[in-house]
Amino acid sequence: MFTFSYYKCISLMMHRLRLLLLLLASSVVRSDFSGCPTLPSSRTCTCSLKTKGLDLSCDSASRQDLLTSIEAIASTRQVVWYLKFRNVNLGNFDRSLLGDMRVNHFIALNCSVTSIEDDAFAGVTDDLESLDLGQNKLERVPTAALEGLVNLASLNLNYNRIEILHAEAFRGLISLLRLSLFGNRIKFVDDLAFEGIGGNLTQVNLGDNGLSSVPSRPLRNLDVLQRLQLHENKIGNLLEEEFRGMGESLDVLELSGNQVEKLPQRAFANLRMLNSLDLENNRIRYIHPKAFEGIESSLEWLKLGDNQLSSIPAEPLRRLKKLRQLDLRQNRIDRITEDDFKHYGRTLKFIYLQKNRLHTIEVNALSELDSLVWLYLPSNQLNVAPYETFRSVLDTLQILDLHENPFNCDCRIAWFRDLVRDQKSKVVNMPRETRCEAPPPLKGKAIAYVTGQDLGCAVDSSCVSVLSPAVAVILFLFWILCT
Ligand SMILES: *[C@@H]1O[C@H](CO)[C@@H](O)[C@H](O)[C@H]1NC(C)=O
Ligand SMILES: *[C@@H]1O[C@H](CO)[C@@H](O)[C@H](O)[C@H]1NC(C)=O
Repeated sequence: MFTFSYYKCISLMMHRLRLLLLLLASSVVRSDFSGCPTLPSSRTCTCSLKTKGLDLSCDSASRQDLLTSIEAIASTRQVVWYLKFRNVNLGNFDRSLLGDMRVNHFIALNCSVTSIEDDAFAGVTDDLESLDLGQNKLERVPTAALEGLVNLASLNLNYNRIEILHAEAFRGLISLLRLSLFGNRIKFVDDLAFEGIGGNLTQVNLGDNGLSSVPSRPLRNLDVLQRLQLHENKIGNLLEEEFRGMGESLDVLELSGNQVEKLPQRAFANLRMLNSLDLENNRIRYIHPKAFEGIESSLEWLKLGDNQLSSIPAEPLRRLKKLRQLDLRQNRIDRITEDDFKHYGRTLKFIYLQKNRLHTIEVNALSELDSLVWLYLPSNQLNVAPYETFRSVLDTLQILDLHENPFNCDCRIAWFRDLVRDQKSKVVNMPRETRCEAPPPLKGKAIAYVTGQDLGCAVDSSCVSVLSPAVAVILFLFWILCT
């Protein structure tokens, strides 16, 4: 009897225990898939369920509203895939805000964050993969708070008020791939700023800061860096071998919007993988013939627009065996000579020369450009566009832009009119803006609409263009004499 009831009691307990376990298990399972809780009285926070977890967004919420919504979310114990705050006044950021929520991506934009306590992220160290604290009021990198985020792949501190990057500012972020500090006030980068950041960093954005030189030393040993953005700073000088020791994986280098005047020899040596170099909007007047030494087998995209070059820097460019795009817009180049595209022109596909001072393109200047697809020449001083000059590129060109040039419309431009009118080719860009400047009767008239008679051509111009000039002259004389 005793044994029986004892047995019964045990089995009952086991049964209850199993039920309890089942209940627990089902509640855990349910909490993982139950979706959004009702957010108490919130009009500024919204929750939605995404495949990988919840997505909570709070825009212009009061702090109280925010905290209640977070609490409601936290109590479900679900994974929060995205947690987004915008225009919320957070001020000091402490441990209580995120608590122990499992947050993967946290964004706090324009939240007046002035400081972040050391343990603010203590509850999310393993889960956090990306952190965006853009448009806040941080004056330094919150190193101690970030230190434990071993799985953080992306850190964005754009538009804060950071003035220096101190030693080991990002230590402990061993998984970091992307670091963005655009729009701060950084003037000083400690030599050890990136020490301890792990060897995974592939992108660094230091654009729109107050840097007066390339922070070469700190950037050393970032062995797998692929993209380095230093645009919109105050860099006035590039040194020889400026990027030495930076590792050889750099693919994209942005230096636009600085104050560089000269490119010294071997400025980019060591960047053996460099594919794209942006030097737009500087004050470059001089490029050393060996400026691009070391990147001749990798560079394909080169931007030198909005500088002060007075000729095409053919000598340094000749080394670039793979150059595909050459952007020289908005310089002071006044002519293209027969030499300018020799021995590197065959790889060029895209050439931008708008807004220069071009008045002359020598007859054979384009003859090596047999892969050319885009040729932009608008807003220059060209009076003539002889067929002989362009003939060699017409087979491959998909865009030819000559608008806003002061063309003297005589028979030499008839081939161009025919090209504009050729519905099939559609090569000519902005044909209506490609006009005659002279002679006076044709001033302002789109070349597309001028007639052979306007141009004073003897016969149909498309014939002239294929006839030899001598035959054309004879026909012309014939026409004068016989009419
Ligand atoms: C930033 O947030 C404040 C309110 O906290 C708002 O007045 C301001 O317009 C916001 N700025 C931007 C750029 O959204
Ligand atoms: C890169 O990140 C992984 C974690 O994602 C880490 O295990 C590894 O140590 C890091 N690599 C280096 C060189 O630090």
